[in-house]
Amino acid sequence: MWWEDAVVYQIYPRSFQDSDGDGIGDLRGIEQRLDHLAYLGVDAFWLSPIYPSPLADFGYDVSDYTAVDPVFGTLDDFDSLVAAAHERGLRVLLDLVPSHTSIEHPWFREHPDRYIWSPVDGPPNNWAAAFGGPAWSQDPGGRGWYLHTFYPEQPDLNWRSPEVVRAMQDVVRFWLARGVDGFRVDAVNGIVKDADLRDDPPASGAFPLPLMGDAAELDHVYSGNRPEVTEALAALREAAGDALLVGEVYLATSEYPRYLEHLDLVFAFELLHSPWDRQRLRKAIEPALALGRVAWVLSNHDFPRLATRVGEDHLREAAELLLSLPGTAFIYQGDEIGLVDGPGADPPFDRAGRDRHRHPMQWDATPNGGFTTGTPWLPPVDPERRNVEAQRGDPASLLEHYRDLISRRPERRGTEFLPEW
Ligand code: NOJ
Repeated sequence: MWWEDAVVYQIYPRSFQDSDGDGIGDLRGIEQRLDHLAYLGVDAFWLSPIYPSPLADFGYDVSDYTAVDPVFGTLDDFDSLVAAAHERGLRVLLDLVPSHTSIEHPWFREHPDRYIWSPVDGPPNNWAAAFGGPAWSQDPGGRGWYLHTFYPEQPDLNWRSPEVVRAMQDVVRFWLARGVDGFRVDAVNGIVKDADLRDDPPASGAFPLPLMGDAAELDHVYSGNRPEVTEALAALREAAGDALLVGEVYLATSEYPRYLEHLDLVFAFELLHSPWDRQRLRKAIEPALALGRVAWVLSNHDFPRLATRVGEDHLREAAELLLSLPGTAFIYQGDEIGLVDGPGADPPFDRAGRDRHRHPMQWDATPNGGFTTGTPWLPPVDPERRNVEAQRGDPASLLEHYRDLISRRPERRGTEFLPEW
């Protein structure tokens, strides 16, 4: 399959390239910058959500699954981007968000049966939301209490409803018909919950990934990761055919086999969260390597940027690690030039504190980094210090190191090429 050993570049559309001066990245901007991806030598890119969204969770609260948010452009712009990508041999992945919609999605008003409601007048159990607080909120329309694994503005879909399954299959088919090559599937371990809504037990302390607030106090064995998830995944697979499905499964590596029955890849989150220490990295990598089908990843839009997390001195070896591991590798935009976390915004856009990891791409040394001619929604961090233009062609630069490693992947991929610390 094309994705085996592929390098996939994650684009955070708001922050990649603005083409119309409104300070927010857009699809035309991405198309204008495709040469950067071709230069880097990646095989594909994943677009974080581009659908209409009230932005409670910056696109992960979708209010229409089969449209493009006007801030990003139009469906025609999307078609043009896909065509331009394919001309350059680049595959396109979209972000599929099957676990919840926006509270403003018409389904929430018109099809309440597609969501999960408490059988009592109040929370029926102790489930905690990922960004803090209880996972149950009262419906502003007075219909009772609904479940939300993430923000209250993101009611969870009920994957035990055949209508939900069919609707999401239609979404997959809609985008495949427009030429996309696959999907990164958001929060997929949570899509099926315990049918009896049993309490999650207190955290045993064994969970290997960071969780926030109240969610860290529980083992999420009933609020997600139910065995029946395989049926939901089979339905997604049926609609997707042989398009790539990469799962965001925020669980221990040991839980991945259930997901790999129908997904092609799952992100190696234990690697993404591993301290930069040889033994710890090895411990994170080995079980994932044994599974054979993980997507190696060191950062994304949810967590501290690679340069901030591992330190700028380790960026070259981080690139060597990521790009030498056998299998598919994902690069978050900006990591190839060593972008660091920024200050974020005050007041924050994202209540969970993730603005810092989402500052715009830095293309050149001008104050807005070539990202926009307008006022950027978040300012670039330090375009004078690092940018694509300055690093391009400089053999000592991080960008050229990434490019070199990507071009040499066919010969130098395997554990024998991992950096020696
Ligand atoms: C994971 C996404 O990467 C994150 O940005 C989002 O907040 C949650 N899933 C909920 O959709």
